[in-house]
Amino acid sequence: MKKLFVKTYGCQMNVYDSDRMTEALELSGYAPAASPADADMILLNTCHIREKAAEKLFSDLGRLAPLKARKRRDGGKLVVAVAGCVAQAEGAEILRRAKTVDVVVGPQSYHRLPALVEAAENGERPVETEFPAESKFDQLPERGRAGVSAFLSIQEGCDKFCTFCVVPYTRGAEFSRPAQAVLDEARDLIARGARELTLLGQNVNAYHGAAADGGVWRLGRLIRALAAMPGLLRLRYTTSHPADMDDALIAVHGDEPKLMPFLHLPVQSGSDRVLQAMNRRHRADDYRRTIDRLRVARPDIALSSDFIVGFPGESDDDFAATLALVRGVGFAQAFSFKYSPRPGTPAAVRDDQVPEPVKVERLAVLQALLNEQQARFNGGFVGRSVDVLFEKRGRHPGQLAGRSPWLQAIHAAAPDARLGSVATVRVATVEPNSLAAVLAEEAA
Ligand code: SAH
Ligand code: SF4
Ligand code: F3S
Repeated sequence: MKKLFVKTYGCQMNVYDSDRMTEALELSGYAPAASPADADMILLNTCHIREKAAEKLFSDLGRLAPLKARKRRDGGKLVVAVAGCVAQAEGAEILRRAKTVDVVVGPQSYHRLPALVEAAENGERPVETEFPAESKFDQLPERGRAGVSAFLSIQEGCDKFCTFCVVPYTRGAEFSRPAQAVLDEARDLIARGARELTLLGQNVNAYHGAAADGGVWRLGRLIRALAAMPGLLRLRYTTSHPADMDDALIAVHGDEPKLMPFLHLPVQSGSDRVLQAMNRRHRADDYRRTIDRLRVARPDIALSSDFIVGFPGESDDDFAATLALVRGVGFAQAFSFKYSPRPGTPAAVRDDQVPEPVKVERLAVLQALLNEQQARFNGGFVGRSVDVLFEKRGRHPGQLAGRSPWLQAIHAAAPDARLGSVATVRVATVEPNSLAAVLAEEAA
């Protein structure tokens, strides 16, 4: 049997897509390979969001060249396919830049992958980066397996055109899957063992899917329908845009216990001037107000965000406004990045780029503050009882690992029989990337 090795870069949507592509390729005779050296095909599912992310692809491809040569010397063959957002953004240019690559396939064409791979096996180097009329979701095979916590893509693409961002170009226009297709896939995932679903979309709370009743469902309505499914214990959704947090969605945080009290809501900056230049469509105070309303609806909700420092024209005062917003809101965790100019985006050609040393300095200051907030948030859990959904075996024998409602990684000594169920644990200590806990019945 032929063997497939998949490497995934970037966001959760890529993780979801990699699983779907793996399932499609399994039907055309590929089994998982333990390592690249072991593989007959290597699939790199790439990310274009920042320059570093995109460059990683080319350094990885450089490393694959000798592997491919060795395979060929031994009379074998290695098909190298590049999928994802770099494939969409650079297309045939990848074939020119990296002789190792046989297939280039953009995110909207994954249902075509088995045919493209077959062409590559016959010596062609196909490139497919159209945005086809048919949806890949309808064409891909049904889901094969599911983990306890599963991703479910419900929305793709973006029409927001933030001036720093490549996503509207790499993923195309905003598109919502029909509500029934989402419900069917959810039912299937639950039947295969999923107990938690994370609904995915580049702009997941812009969801507006056609419903069977002829209407349109926004995300709040969809969450209510999913929460009613027996067997499902937890729901999450990511990533959201602050301008799309509508009343119905905020309300469902207040009255749907299966919706977990943790929200990733990227604000990017605390300065109105910068937010406007980013085309973010909201002011810092709009964001604060949305957080206040979420906290009224669900007092224990914890927040997460993305931040960009050193956006073109960002002054010391602008940056100070970001720090002030962080202090005021208080985040349980966050991601922060130096602004990276991306080809084809409006901000990249501005002539007021911030010097690299200033970006480095601002990032360090912001991350110190965010780390402090995260440590305080996690530290507050020591000695407390929390629920954990056990997802997998832990790193040490006899341990299981899972997540708290607030997405904290937790491990505790527990029997395998507890996998897939929620247990109450007492948090003992905070470790660098997780909380160590004991089952409540044993802590008593
Ligand atoms: N759709 C999501 C985020 C998508 S990209 C949203 O609207 O929030 C994930 C994060 O990458 C963004 O939130 C942003 O913080 C960061 N990012 C995107 N483009 C970037 C760039 N050019 N430079 C640095 N960070 C960037
Ligand atoms: Fe990018 Fe903005 Fe769309 Fe998010 S909302 S994907 S940051 S353009
Ligand atoms: Fe990266 Fe594309 Fe996701 S650019 S962040 S893989 S949508």
